Amino acid sequence: MPAAWTDAQVELAQRVAGSDVVSVRQWTPQELRTLLEIVERFEGIHDPLLQGKVLGVLFFEPSTRTRLSFESAMMRLGGSCLGFADAQISSTSKGESLWDTVRMAECYCDIIVIRHPREGAARVAAEATALPVVNGGDGANQHPTQTLLDLYTIHRRKGVVEGLKVGFLGDLKYGRAAHSLIEALGKLGNDLVLVSPQALRLPRRRLDELDERGVRWTETTEMLDAVPALDVLYVTRIQQERFGDPLEYERVKNTYQVDLSVLDRAKPGMVVMHPLPRVTEIHPSLDASPQAAYFEQARNGVTVRKALLALLMGALP
Ligand code: CP
Repeated sequence: MPAAWTDAQVELAQRVAGSDVVSVRQWTPQELRTLLEIVERFEGIHDPLLQGKVLGVLFFEPSTRTRLSFESAMMRLGGSCLGFADAQISSTSKGESLWDTVRMAECYCDIIVIRHPREGAARVAAEATALPVVNGGDGANQHPTQTLLDLYTIHRRKGVVEGLKVGFLGDLKYGRAAHSLIEALGKLGNDLVLVSPQALRLPRRRLDELDERGVRWTETTEMLDAVPALDVLYVTRIQQERFGDPLEYERVKNTYQVDLSVLDRAKPGMVVMHPLPRVTEIHPSLDASPQAAYFEQARNGVTVRKALLALLMGALP
């Protein structure tokens, strides 16, 4: 028998029904904690809560995990999906504006998830329609549902999120998954260690925001110096597609690789995470390690997205 919903869970569910998920900025620390509790309630839930509802999947950029896990989540709750995974097969290729595409999707769907290369595109989409809009990644800006599944994975692995020292490794300039998670962990008061090549440091305005919130953070270019103190190492891909200069990418593309020798320097319980896809920054020999959590993250994405879709549609188990 599942535990009864708490007052905080019910209040949050009522507040978010019909709303958008555009940025982690919209959630307070307490809302993040309550959201994780609600996600946990959706473990193993396959009830047809969204029967007859349609998810519009508007993906203007490539994706494996975000698109498939949203579609899986919708279908596992009895709903269905339509949309496109390549903007070139939509009328965008004929010059249709994002605004108009979203207005069209509104005619065919009940809720929309959008991925777009332009920062702020999810907000534009949310303004174009009264339907709930979920940001599945907008340029180098935000990936809020990835953040929820990252927090959920940390919580399940470590039993807590708050109080952990979390290191971010790789492309902190362009990595939207890192940007969103850094913002959320900053809200929750975690200590952060930022490890990147000089050219891919977390942008100044994001560092200033951390300072304004009083977040404790340090920065280094040296992975091996950072690793021994960490509870979680969040590895990111160097985002080739966002570089203006291909030579600049060539200079930094192989800066880091996490392999078993790196784990020898870490605490035994340090968890290695990655939003995926990976290229060379995590050696496949790590995959069998109990410390590797990246495939688990992808699996948790379905539970997180089931919970979000149900919440936004106001349909609870
Ligand atoms: N983590 C993530 O966003 O993966 P995809 O680009 O495959 O959706």
